[in-house]
Amino acid sequence: MAEPNTDLDVVDELTIDHREALALLDQIGTSTDPAERRDLADTVIAEVVRHAVAEEMYVYPAVRYHLASGEQVVQHDIEEHKQLEQVMKQLEGADASEPRFDSLVREMTEQLRHHANQEETEQFPQLRADIPRERLVELRKKVETAKQVAPTRPHPSAPNAELFHKMVGPGVGLVDRLRDRLSGRSTG
Ligand SMILES: [Fe+2]
Ligand SMILES: [Fe+2]
Repeated sequence: MAEPNTDLDVVDELTIDHREALALLDQIGTSTDPAERRDLADTVIAEVVRHAVAEEMYVYPAVRYHLASGEQVVQHDIEEHKQLEQVMKQLEGADASEPRFDSLVREMTEQLRHHANQEETEQFPQLRADIPRERLVELRKKVETAKQVAPTRPHPSAPNAELFHKMVGPGVGLVDRLRDRLSGRSTG
């Protein structure tokens, strides 16, 4: 008898990403140590860029194909990714001890919450209704692989911190460098 398929599908994976990113943003608000705030901000920026690029590569094409007015939905979502990127670019260069840093964190939180909510209540349920489960599990594997092109931003004391810094590095330009690497535009 066939075992029920309990693998996570792409909707599970992306929803977990949303929760984790929002939790990291919350954590920034509870920290008063500028170094820790900088570290958390770089971590959440790296996570959101990885997530957004993977969505654009593998999930939005499925949205475009399967949803009524898929093309408009995808254009709207990509526009929101660009807005998020603008805020993240300001955040990567902001001083973690300045009030501006907090307002950027709040702005990023609001934009991400809105965008994630829309995906989770509109696009994702329609994908699940339209696409067979095996295909959604395959899509999750593709998303995972796409995200691995750039390493996870680790805590500075983690063993792969050096790898991350060598490949991507924190600070100004982080969003662009990560996006280039993930989308295959980078040669470095
Ligand atoms: Fe998205
Ligand atoms: Fe998303």
